[in-house]
Amino acid sequence: MNYHFTTTKAHIVLNGGSIEEIPIDEALNITSAHPFKGNMDIPKLKGVIDKHGSERIAFVRLEAGTNLIGGQPFSLSNLEEVRKVCDSHGIKIVLDASLLADNLYFIKVREEKCKEMSIREITRALSDLCDIIYFSARKLGCARGGGILTNDEESYLKLRELVPLYEGFLTYGGMSVREMEALTVGLEETMDEDMISQGPIFIAYMVEELQKKGIPVVTPPGGLGCHLNAMEFLDHIPQKQYPAGALTAALYIASGVRGMERGTLSEQRDEHGVEPLANMELLRLALPRRVFTLSQLNYTVDRIVWLYDNRKLIGGLEFVDEPQNLRFFFGKLKATSDWPSKLAAKFKEDLGDSV
Ligand SMILES: Cc1ncc(COP(=O)(O)O)c(C=O)c1O
Repeated sequence: MNYHFTTTKAHIVLNGGSIEEIPIDEALNITSAHPFKGNMDIPKLKGVIDKHGSERIAFVRLEAGTNLIGGQPFSLSNLEEVRKVCDSHGIKIVLDASLLADNLYFIKVREEKCKEMSIREITRALSDLCDIIYFSARKLGCARGGGILTNDEESYLKLRELVPLYEGFLTYGGMSVREMEALTVGLEETMDEDMISQGPIFIAYMVEELQKKGIPVVTPPGGLGCHLNAMEFLDHIPQKQYPAGALTAALYIASGVRGMERGTLSEQRDEHGVEPLANMELLRLALPRRVFTLSQLNYTVDRIVWLYDNRKLIGGLEFVDEPQNLRFFFGKLKATSDWPSKLAAKFKEDLGDSV
């Protein structure tokens, strides 16, 4: 994988599999000018195939717009390289296209050879390089449900039996006709550059505003949202006390804005109960298109700046109820001290009852 996604990894592990993450080294540099930090590292891919043997690799998975490391895209050229390697070893490519809209936009504006291609042509080129494409329509297409697409007959015949078992009959997969119609409109809109550019442009605005104020953020601006680097923002909080989770809670106290933790909390303990520390501790402020106004972004920037000035008041978190699977969805946490009340008191002192 260029990077894992929480639920995807959970499914693989539950089925007795394991994953290897092989993004380019630059992917893990929080601040960078690399236009495609979501690229897969080709020599590492070859190394993984040599290590395990192609017969033990079910598929190579690419995620368009790596969710957990700042919504960073991969390039069309990178996918072409991955295809070549996979072809020479008979390995299938699976694309998670949930965040494809942003990735398409970045390919169009950042990849020289694609500048003259339409979004539809880029989509076609990407699709032709993959064996299976799946997506959550909550992101791609802005509808409920999702889709699995393939032009590979062997995969189709295998999936054909599973879809009615787990979703609904093959023709509708558990979705209503109304939803499928909405999805069709949403996918068509995704082919419109003016439409898909709105999210990334808003994200870039917010990232640049925060950068001007010295707030640590992921660069270059990616898709999905603006990502704060909690490891640096809260460098006094050990990773075992979930700095990204703490920052999420603190921002809610200071602004009412709900962000999403993308760090160690979003990881899962291994079979020995050992908690892996995430490569990054991020607070994601998702900016889906057509949802927020510029003044809402400015408000949030303003509150983040206040929080940054008062960051030493923020403390850590600990679990009081930690589910075994996908703990970040259902788990309950508490503060390691009374820092939330102290933070709220300082907020009142500085800004009154302005939330
Ligand atoms: C890359 C990626 N894949 C899969 C999903 C899962 O989406 P859903 O929960 O709608 O099925 C998400 C959700 O954010 C995602 O970003």
